[in-house]
Amino acid sequence: MPIDIHKRIETIKEQIREHDYKYYVLADPSISDQEYDFLLKELEKLELENPDLITPDSPTQRVGKDLTKDFKPVSHKVPMLSLANTYSEEELIDFDRRVRDGLPDGEKIEYVVEPKIDGVSVSLNYVNYYLKTAATRGDGTTGEEITANVRTIKSIPLKLNKFKSLKYKLDDFEARGEIFMKIADFRKLNEARENSGEKLFANPRNSSAGTLKLQDPKVVARRPLNIFLYFLISAKEEFESQIENLQLLKMLGFNVNPEYKLCKNISEVLEACRKLEEKRDSLKYEIDGAVIKVNLIRHQKILGSIAKSPRWAVAFKFKAKQAVTKLNKITWQVGRTGAITPVAELEPVLLSGSTISRATLHNFDEIMRKDVREGDTVVLEKGGDVIPKIVAVVLNERKSNSLKVKPPENCPACGTPLFKPEEEVAYYCENADCPAQIKGRLEHFASRGVMDIEGLGEALIDLFVENKILNTYADIYDLQKRREELIAIERLGVKSVDNLLASIEESKKQPFAKVLYAIGIRYVGAGAAKKLADYFLSIDKLISSDEEEISSIHEIGPSISRSVKKFFSEEENLKVIQRLKKHGINFTSLKKEIKENFFLNKTFVLTGTLEKFSRDEAAEKIILLGGKVTSSVSRKTDCLIAGESAGSKLDKAMGLGVYVLTEVEFIKLLEEASK
Ligand code: IVH
Repeated sequence: MPIDIHKRIETIKEQIREHDYKYYVLADPSISDQEYDFLLKELEKLELENPDLITPDSPTQRVGKDLTKDFKPVSHKVPMLSLANTYSEEELIDFDRRVRDGLPDGEKIEYVVEPKIDGVSVSLNYVNYYLKTAATRGDGTTGEEITANVRTIKSIPLKLNKFKSLKYKLDDFEARGEIFMKIADFRKLNEARENSGEKLFANPRNSSAGTLKLQDPKVVARRPLNIFLYFLISAKEEFESQIENLQLLKMLGFNVNPEYKLCKNISEVLEACRKLEEKRDSLKYEIDGAVIKVNLIRHQKILGSIAKSPRWAVAFKFKAKQAVTKLNKITWQVGRTGAITPVAELEPVLLSGSTISRATLHNFDEIMRKDVREGDTVVLEKGGDVIPKIVAVVLNERKSNSLKVKPPENCPACGTPLFKPEEEVAYYCENADCPAQIKGRLEHFASRGVMDIEGLGEALIDLFVENKILNTYADIYDLQKRREELIAIERLGVKSVDNLLASIEESKKQPFAKVLYAIGIRYVGAGAAKKLADYFLSIDKLISSDEEEISSIHEIGPSISRSVKKFFSEEENLKVIQRLKKHGINFTSLKKEIKENFFLNKTFVLTGTLEKFSRDEAAEKIILLGGKVTSSVSRKTDCLIAGESAGSKLDKAMGLGVYVLTEVEFIKLLEEASK
């Protein structure tokens, strides 16, 4: 009787779907776990006997068997925008003013205030009521496909009930929201990891992000991920408002955060933000602010977007969370540049979901300014990703035996007497062979987002430096020849050595800008390295340039240019670069063939306020089209782009006869060039 079996299977699937909804979305189950398991077992049995009747939306099919080898790029049909941040009520009032200025007089403006969930944003694409793909935000235009992992999240329906939304045309839509982990679930996960000696996640957000990028959906299924949806986008359906959007998502069976509020004016918005901030600590998940959205879609359309952020929405970031604890000791750490930084060793304390036992004190001046002493009770603060810092001492809790500290006279790692440059607050160990610096430099070089050498972390670097296997960056690439020797080292197996060597080989693909950041020139961060690489295109051109030319680049100041020149004047550094070159590390940016356009090979200066983008965004567009952007007008300048209230640069350009463009003309040329 296959018809009956088919019917039975469909009935159970329907029931499980309903129970998942009640359990994972409403948190209000109507049957016991045992009854639920019973249903699932029956379904599994029927499907085993009738494999033809297995469909992808079956609850037994949430966890796929295949590993995800690579997360394929997905281009978002509608870009996934990000939000501008505000940090004070004044800034929110400014936002309201901009919104009112942007809309015709007499319009009644409403806002929706929602919690800003601290998780990972995703877009779910449903086609004919089935979940088809799930993608990360990526750069907003292109994300990565994470469908197999997202399917394991039980609060995400694999199939929607069509009858619930007959009024709407929803045969192809995207639901957007935030995947997160509840604080309690995150703690449990970290405890289990600690017990099994695995690396701990820093906070629930990192934990969600790390989980979504796992290759094995079976492991993902065991992690307690959750989702709140906040947008429904459909090419075929026009909605009236954000509120309608949230209500429809809820009606379709999605998890929608219940803390949203419709506000009639900005004072109600401020009140809703205050209330949300008060409620923050009692919520089961982390929020880092509020999101304020103009309610009517008609208004949103009139307001539009600038660059990557909508003009109709803004984030209001809450103040960083604080905790109070005892400072046991101040120790001194030697960084990769030789700078000695004081570190506060603390009585462990819980702060935004993670246990903190160390905090940076930046430098000795800061210790003096805040009058921090060993034995003090201190206030700690953490905002976003940053390392926790000490914001104040609780003076009325100071004990008579609290101890003032002095900066060390010698390097705590190698004993070399320390040096303090006149213009700086930091003390430096100037011994380039100081083992702490060598380790710090190598750690930076190998780290994620720099040369990305997976497996070459702090512990292994310590081991290699102590055994004199590594000393300079170039030594990393000599390891290929020393495979047998590495395998012989206790603790390292054949597999881990081979994996390490493979990721070292892989790192040779890192682009020039990353390499320039990796080699650790003082003051040259990732951003400055990118600007230098874009301008000079090769290390040889950078080495032979002079300070004046370097500091002429848009947003590169004299301390960077001085430091770059100093770095390349040292014989040792040049030798390491030569060796890295021989290993095939990228020391040039091969510009993609850029077709002839107005911007190609011309030098630009930006001045005044641009309306449509920030100066950095404008500079990026010019660079992508093969132009250069410098910070001051000279005879070498081909063109000045003058925004609102341009001043002395405009005068100088006129004096020199430099071609001047208005923003409107600039945009026109950009459009032509990008055709
Ligand atoms: S709306 C165009 N609503 O915050 C508006 N975002 O930069 C885009 N987020 O990437 C987002 N909770 O990951 C919106 N209720 C909420 C949110 C939210 C968290 C995240 C989202 C986005 C980032 C803003």
